[in-house]
Amino acid sequence: MTSESSCRICGEAVAEFLDFGIQPLSDAFREPSDPAEEFTYRLAVGRCAGCGMVQLVNEVPREAMFHDDYPYVSRGSAVMREHFGALARRFLETELAGEDPFIVELGSNDGTMLATVAAAGVRHLGVEPSGDVADLSAAEGVRVRKDFFEESTALQIAESDGLADVIYAANTLCHIPYMDSILAGVRALLKPHGVFVFEDPYLGDIVERTSFDQIYDEHFFLFSARSVDEMARRHGLELVDVEHLEVHGGELRYTLALPGARRRSEAVGRWLSTEDSARLGEQDVLEEFAARVHAVRDDLVSLLSRLRDEGSRVVGYGATAKSATVTNFCGIGPELVEFVCDTTPAKQGRLTPGSHIPVRPPEAFRGGDGGAGGNGYPPYALLFAWNHAEEIMAKEQAFREAGGRWILYVPTVRVV
Ligand code: SAM
Ligand code: TMP
Repeated sequence: MTSESSCRICGEAVAEFLDFGIQPLSDAFREPSDPAEEFTYRLAVGRCAGCGMVQLVNEVPREAMFHDDYPYVSRGSAVMREHFGALARRFLETELAGEDPFIVELGSNDGTMLATVAAAGVRHLGVEPSGDVADLSAAEGVRVRKDFFEESTALQIAESDGLADVIYAANTLCHIPYMDSILAGVRALLKPHGVFVFEDPYLGDIVERTSFDQIYDEHFFLFSARSVDEMARRHGLELVDVEHLEVHGGELRYTLALPGARRRSEAVGRWLSTEDSARLGEQDVLEEFAARVHAVRDDLVSLLSRLRDEGSRVVGYGATAKSATVTNFCGIGPELVEFVCDTTPAKQGRLTPGSHIPVRPPEAFRGGDGGAGGNGYPPYALLFAWNHAEEIMAKEQAFREAGGRWILYVPTVRVV
């Protein structure tokens, strides 16, 4: 592990504003019998004094996070499947409507987005280093290269497949510290009028909603329109469009192009001035955010401790990567949260990283003893997958009807 105190975009000093202490890897779900010591690192976040980019202070080696046992799959949410289907259809009608178009997706995961492109018979390539999830793409008819995207990969793709009309990345670019190599690769692989589109959790939403659990090993950068504008400029690209997305707790979708290739939309100026008026990214605003994070931790721990003392069972819902930060920062283990239910096969039967809470399939949520109204449900469910709240609450109506209550902690701790 390398300890970074200089910015991964411009090399200036990074001023730390929030320290979560020693943490495990957020997606390293453990076999209960595994005797190996867990990989840990110090999770802390800071802001660059030079270019304003908010980023982690320590960098975890990429091979420790993304490998053949990487458990996250895009298809786990119906809302996300629809989100990616809609975007693929939009690309097909616009950027990919010309002669022999070609799209490259970084972090294509299980092929959820590219499946629609493949079904339309359009040339595509997913670049995905995590072999297990990459293998799931084959059944979708999606072509994938099992590799990390970086400059050398981009040059090889340009050589073998030609230049791309669209390079796309969802919830992936913010995972990659080596941005100089990535953006050099993008410049080398993009057609002169092509676009590089990426979407990631938005710093503005994280600060506004105090969603501190968006900060973990894989989320190396917390992007904003201002910091991406600066990053693009420094790396020979231009930010030409910005769109806000409600998915994953609030994201921005950025469109970059080669300088002068595309007209800059009015949205860019609007987002930059909104962020400037909110002073998003200023040190005092980030320090106030850090103070709110500590208050949420205190409130959550005191609520869970009270419920335990009263003898009320609490079950977690969604073994998210985000929840690693919550449980390990707050000191929440199986004595406060009995188990976490999750639909992902690769997480079930394992223990959550660091906090060692058992992960069980969703059926366990309905099947416990002593539940609300004696029906098997627990009386309380801590919603770790709060970014999928609408989808989950709709599917778990029976839990509410049985008297079950949800515990939420974004933006503040409450029981609903
Ligand atoms: N795009 C999918 C989505 O939004 O659901 C998957 C996002 S997942 C959180 C991040 C993905 O990025 C993982 O599948 C990981 O293996 C991949 N990844 C990490 N580093 C990468 C790199 N350098 N090039 C391409 N993919 C990478
Ligand atoms: P994410 O917030 O990173 O997308 O992770 C969501 C996790 O929650 C993932 O492990 C899948 C799980 N999940 C469920 O268990 N049930 C659901 O209904 C949804 C939408 C997600």
